[in-house]
Amino acid sequence: MSGIRMRNLIDKLEKERILSKDELVYLLSNFNEEDSQYLFQKARAISQKYFGNRIYIRGLVEFTNYCKNDCLYCGIRKSNRNVERYRLNKDQILNCCRNGYELGFRTFVLQGGEDLKYSVDEMEDIIKTIRDNFPDCAITLSIGERSYDEYKRYFEAGANRYLLRHETANDVHYGMLHPKNMSLHTRKECLYNLKKIGYQVGAGFMVGSPYQTMENIAEDLLFIHELNPQMVGIGPFIPHKDTPFNNFKAGSFELTLFLIGVLRLMIPNLLIPATTALGTINPLGREKGILAGANVVMPNLSPVNVRKKYQLYDNKICTGEEAAECRMCLQKRVEKIGYEIVVDRGDFKPIEELVPC
Ligand code: 5AD
Ligand code: FES
Repeated sequence: MSGIRMRNLIDKLEKERILSKDELVYLLSNFNEEDSQYLFQKARAISQKYFGNRIYIRGLVEFTNYCKNDCLYCGIRKSNRNVERYRLNKDQILNCCRNGYELGFRTFVLQGGEDLKYSVDEMEDIIKTIRDNFPDCAITLSIGERSYDEYKRYFEAGANRYLLRHETANDVHYGMLHPKNMSLHTRKECLYNLKKIGYQVGAGFMVGSPYQTMENIAEDLLFIHELNPQMVGIGPFIPHKDTPFNNFKAGSFELTLFLIGVLRLMIPNLLIPATTALGTINPLGREKGILAGANVVMPNLSPVNVRKKYQLYDNKICTGEEAAECRMCLQKRVEKIGYEIVVDRGDFKPIEELVPC
C-alpha cells in the first residue's frame, strides 16, 4: 500500500513545483513501485501536454578524450593511463555534423574532456564553421569550466547551449568526488556566467555517486530550482574499472527514474534526456526514462573508431554502432512505446510559449 503521505507530497510537488528539503528527503527515501507509477503518470501527462509524443534528439560529437582534470569517477580522467587518447580535427567534426544532418539531427553537441590543446581561436573557428554550414541547427557545447570571456566568445561565434553538470550541490560531497583544485563554487559560477551570457544551460548530477546521501540529492533538486536551467541531465553513477571508484556499486535505476519524474513536476517545460548511462544499466533504460517524463535522447555521432575510447564508465552502450544504426534503433524503440523522434532543434521554450498539445 502506498502511503497517503507520499501521494500528498507528489500532489503538492505538482501544484507548488517545489518541496522543502525534509519533504524531498522523505519522498526519495520512502517511495515504492506504486508511488513511482503515480508520479510517472503525472509526469507523462505534463510531457504530453507540452510536447505531445514528440522526442527531441541531439547528436553527440565526442571530439576529444584528453582531459586536464582528474575527477575521481570519470574514466577519461587525466591519471588513467589505460585510455588511448584521441582528438578529432575540424574536418572530422564537420563530417560528424554532415552525417548527423542527413539523419535528421538539428542539434549538435560538441562534448569533450577539458582539453586545452584546442586554442580559443580554434574552438571559435570550429563553432563559426558549424554555424555557417548549418544555420538551422543548434550548437551545444559541453567542454567544462572556462572563463566568462571564453564562454562569451563561443556564444558570439554561434553556440546556443551549454551542458555543465553541477555533479553535486553539496560542497563537502563535491570535494569527495573531485581533486582539491576543483570546487563547487567555481562550477556554480560557470553555470551562472553561462546563463548571464544567454546560453540555454544544462545542469545535472549522477544518481548514486559515491558517498551521496538522500539529503545531497534533495540539495541537488533545490539547487536546480534556484538555478532554473533549461535542461537537466541525470544518470546513474556507473563505476569505471580504472578509477579510484572502481569498487563502488552503480546508482539505483529506480531512483534515477523517480528523479526524472520529480524534475518533470518541478519544471514542466524542462528538457530532460533519457541518458546513455540509464540505457547502460538497464536494456530498456531510455524507454523507461521517457515513460518517467524525459523528452530528449542524445545518440552518438562520433566516428565508430573512437567510440570505445570515450568511456566515462564501464560497458557504455552503442560503442560499436554507426550513427545511422543508433538513429534507426532509437526510432524503433521510441515508436514501440508510442512516441516519435522529430526533426527539430527542440529549443527550450518558456511555458507561456508552449501551446498545449
Ligand atoms: N558514471 C556515470 N556518469 C558519469 N559521468 C562521468 N563519469 C561517470 C560515471 N562513472 C557523467 C558526469 C559528467 C557527464 C559528462 O558524465 O556527470 O558530467
Ligand atoms: Fe545505439 Fe540502439 S541506440 S544501438
